Amino acid sequence: MEDAEVFTYAVIGGGIAGVTCAEHLYILDPEARTVVITASGLIKAVTNVLPITKTLDMFDVEERLPEQLENECPNITVVKEPVTRLNAGDQIIYTTSGRKFSYKKLCICSGGTPKLISNNHPSVLGIRDTESAQQFQERLGKAQRILIVGNGGIATEMVYEVTGVDIIWAVKDKHTSATFIDPGAAEFFKPELGKDKIESNQPLKRRKYTVDGSQTQYGHIGGALGPDWHSGLRLSSDLKRKVTIEYQVEVKNIFSHEELINSGKSCCKLKEEPLDSIWPVYVELSNNKIYGCDFIVSATGVVPNISVFQDGNNLRLGSDGGLRINESMETSLSNVYAAGDVCSPSWEPAQHWFQMRLWTQARHMGSYAAKCMYSSLANEEIYMDFAFELFSHATKFFGYKVIILGLFNGQKLEGKYEILLRFTPGLEYIKCVMADGKMQGAILIGETDLEETFENLILNQMDLSQYGEDLLNPDIDIEDYFD
Ligand SMILES: Cc1cc2nc3c(=O)[nH]c(=O)nc-3n(C[C@H](O)[C@H](O)[C@H](O)COP(=O)(O)OP(=O)(O)OC[C@H]3O[C@@H](n4cnc5c(N)ncnc54)[C@H](O)[C@@H]3O)c2cc1C
Ligand SMILES: *[C@@H]1O[C@H](CO)[C@@H](O)[C@H](O)[C@H]1NC(C)=O
Ligand SMILES: *[C@@H]1O[C@H](CO)[C@@H](O)[C@H](O)[C@H]1NC(C)=O
Ligand SMILES: *[C@@H]1O[C@H](CO)[C@@H](O)[C@H](O)[C@H]1NC(C)=O
Repeated sequence: MEDAEVFTYAVIGGGIAGVTCAEHLYILDPEARTVVITASGLIKAVTNVLPITKTLDMFDVEERLPEQLENECPNITVVKEPVTRLNAGDQIIYTTSGRKFSYKKLCICSGGTPKLISNNHPSVLGIRDTESAQQFQERLGKAQRILIVGNGGIATEMVYEVTGVDIIWAVKDKHTSATFIDPGAAEFFKPELGKDKIESNQPLKRRKYTVDGSQTQYGHIGGALGPDWHSGLRLSSDLKRKVTIEYQVEVKNIFSHEELINSGKSCCKLKEEPLDSIWPVYVELSNNKIYGCDFIVSATGVVPNISVFQDGNNLRLGSDGGLRINESMETSLSNVYAAGDVCSPSWEPAQHWFQMRLWTQARHMGSYAAKCMYSSLANEEIYMDFAFELFSHATKFFGYKVIILGLFNGQKLEGKYEILLRFTPGLEYIKCVMADGKMQGAILIGETDLEETFENLILNQMDLSQYGEDLLNPDIDIEDYFD
């Protein structure tokens, strides 16, 4: 083992979890040598952090050169090589070039690989990182129509971001954005509803709609007048967007043009499409409709990236295939921790927390894992991080600020809950999930200024039954009641 490079801490992965973990190890233990081993040439960094509530920050994610991390944290070394094997017994990590690294504490932050609807199909693109996003941009430049599969934040954001091509959006649920957004919020974003009820002095973005059987189609025309709408929209004819949504479907088959002809099946033509148009690829959905498109974007979640660690190690996995970790972020291998998309927490979670593979959680887990690794070496006691008390996430959809707190879709409540809603089309959408008169979760869309109050109400479990529906009465300033 004399040829192994010796480090106190090792972190595998240069994503949000790995980089946050390394940065926190440096803060806690600046004299210790830490190695970050990553397969990617660039690492991810959190920037522009804006605290929103006790458990929640808004921030941007940026890609950086590894040297920047080394400069900011001088006792961190970044090695740009894939790990090929872990000998957890001897505490040695092997990389492709044959280098070996020994550690006292290791944190695996190797993320996940997008689940593809079809592996290695040249027309199926999984979007994961900047590289694949660039590849996507390039192909998008030449495309006229794409098919997006998936119903999470990624698919939703793509549908919003991508302009200038026709989009067919295949969603396996009854509604779009089921992962984050419930049917009510989906209605909020469905611009049809916004159209008539907005007061005429409200900034209004005009759109044109045609509803066509089970398909909803809409195209953008006209300008962006409200402050929130500026960013994503440029007024140019080639930035028009046409979205056709197919609900409750999955991809059944992928055909080439020749295969389609041989199958004797016929494909759906959208309006204005020439009857004899030929597409690079055809997709058959489970509702038996076939669409031609330039390529398929698969945004259907990730498979935890664990395979290189399994060889020779008795790793325990969670039911979703991630590395099982306990309250102190430890895997089943001694001195091996895990954080971010690769892990599956196995502890009994707090009532209002659950795992969702998001930046917010990758960051919380990375920093908490660093504390656990350091405390274990220093023989200090550690307490569960406050971030695991409450699920919280902040993002932007369609230019609106979206804050999600607690059991926002009634998760864990087995249908025993009520919903309070306040919905001002084009302005805000507030949903509270209530059980026994106590708030369990919320979705806040728009500039509601209620996030801190609601976070407190969920954490404190204050009995709100006396307020009834007045809790969301806009004439009552609830912040004054509870702050
Ligand atoms: C397209 C897309 C968009 C998303 N958008 C959002 C969003 O808007 N908001 C949000 O909150 N979440 C979003 N997510 C989810 C979010 O990206 C993840 O939850 C988060 O990035 C996970 O971070 P991580 O550090 O655990 O893993 P990753 O970011 O996946 O990093 C894993 C790292 O491990 C390295 N690695 C893997 N295997 C090895 C190996 N064998 N050897 C060495 N290094 C290895 C990789 O190179 C990489 O650096 C999105 C996900 C996708 C795919
Ligand atoms: C790096 O670690 C060494 C000891 O290993 C210590 O002397 C030095 O101060 C550390 N550097 C910084 C910038 O913390
Ligand atoms: C996951 O690991 C595999 C090999 O084990 C690798 O090919 C893939 O790029 C990894 N994914 C990520 C996101 O690093
Ligand atoms: C987590 O697992 C490790 C290794 O099995 C064990 O030593 C540690 O006590 C566990 N921590 C908790 C909080 O269960």
